[in-house]
Amino acid sequence: MLGNFTYSNPTKLYFGKESLNGLNEELPKYGKNVLLIYGGGSIKKTGLYDEVIKILKDNNKEIFEDAGVMPNPTVEKLYEGCERARKGNVDFILAVGGGSVCDYAKAVSVSVYSEEDPWDKYFLRMEDVDNKIIPVGCVLTMVGTGSEMNGGSVITNHESKLKIGHVFGENVFPKFSIMNPVYTFTLPEYQMVAGFFDIMSHILEQYFSGEDDNTSDYLMEGLLKSLIHSSKIAVKNPEDYEARSNIMWTATWALNTLVAKGKSTDWMVHMIGQSVGAYTDATHGMTLAAVSIPYYKHIMPYGLAKFKRFAINVWDVNPEGKSDEQIANEGLECMEKWMKEIGLVMSIKELGATEDMLDGIAKGTFILEGGYKVLNHDEIVDILKESMKA
Ligand code: NZQ
Ligand code: ZN
Repeated sequence: MLGNFTYSNPTKLYFGKESLNGLNEELPKYGKNVLLIYGGGSIKKTGLYDEVIKILKDNNKEIFEDAGVMPNPTVEKLYEGCERARKGNVDFILAVGGGSVCDYAKAVSVSVYSEEDPWDKYFLRMEDVDNKIIPVGCVLTMVGTGSEMNGGSVITNHESKLKIGHVFGENVFPKFSIMNPVYTFTLPEYQMVAGFFDIMSHILEQYFSGEDDNTSDYLMEGLLKSLIHSSKIAVKNPEDYEARSNIMWTATWALNTLVAKGKSTDWMVHMIGQSVGAYTDATHGMTLAAVSIPYYKHIMPYGLAKFKRFAINVWDVNPEGKSDEQIANEGLECMEKWMKEIGLVMSIKELGATEDMLDGIAKGTFILEGGYKVLNHDEIVDILKESMKA
């Protein structure tokens, strides 16, 4: 492990079939007025809404609701949420939903008492929080983002065609998260597998960086193996508790800051995917899936040793008698085969992208420098063109 770092994570996790009971332990720690944030209604269909309301009432909470958080939450919705939180003078925010709901809850938490426009301050300028923060707790219903145990909050501005994620500090992490794998059984297959790829992508964004011998890489190889194994089971039987619980746990560890320690980290698949999302409003995990193979083929020559290791350690490619390039390529072929097997979208065309958008998508892509190759505009356009052809 080269370099210095600090590690701590303040989020308390309640995991398993009985985990909702954790609310009874946590709620008494916070004030009376609770803002209950949720999405487009899946929690009403599943009955989780009624269970949560009962627990809130049993704990003598005054409940204010902010419903209708859309996948890829927008800046307009954020302003609305702040207004509700202010009116209710809320002491605590309870987010019940997927990454969008959890991300949005964190955005509301830091924005309610911001004197400046939160989009400008926290997303365009990425400033640290210097105002009062409302504490957030999460009940997770969709797996993938890791939002349940990190400071990430991604907001979309359709007017300026920008989708930006701010990774806030520990003071914004959820105070606790409730993780019951059974809640994820009702996810439509498209969302389920998109979440699986989101997990894969989070790991790869951190794995494909650096050249030192690093414990984080070994941890990530284990997480990847578990994900690949369980995803195949879950696709055949979405109600396989063992597989879904392993995947839920893997998602959390893929992006709760642990495996980034000692790594420079890449994140270019996410930057390109987010820009695709800003133009198409497509499902996050699918945007990543559609650009990953062209991206990794493009950067492979610059990080060949790691791609070779990926092939051997994650996909069990037999290296005997093969060149490094052949081994590395076989690894990516295995990944592509797995992606198709679980039903991921392989082309941005399928997500609604058109040729005339490509230049704008490339311009809207934030270029980061932690990976094996710092991309320029034309390279991003080439990667997008490859995805259009897939
Ligand atoms: O809105 P409802 O009705 O709840 O429906 C949702 C939504 O339509 C549905 N759903 C969720 N749980 C369900 C369910 N349907 C049936 N049964 C359930 N148990 O699934 C749909 C997608 O939900 P969403 O929350 O949008 O998905 P996800 O968890 O993938 O979150 C995506 C957002 O997170 C951001 C993405 O950019 C995107 O905006 N990310 C956040 C990150 C972070 N905090 O660190 C990192 C990620 O890379 C990502 O960027
Ligand atoms: Zn992601």
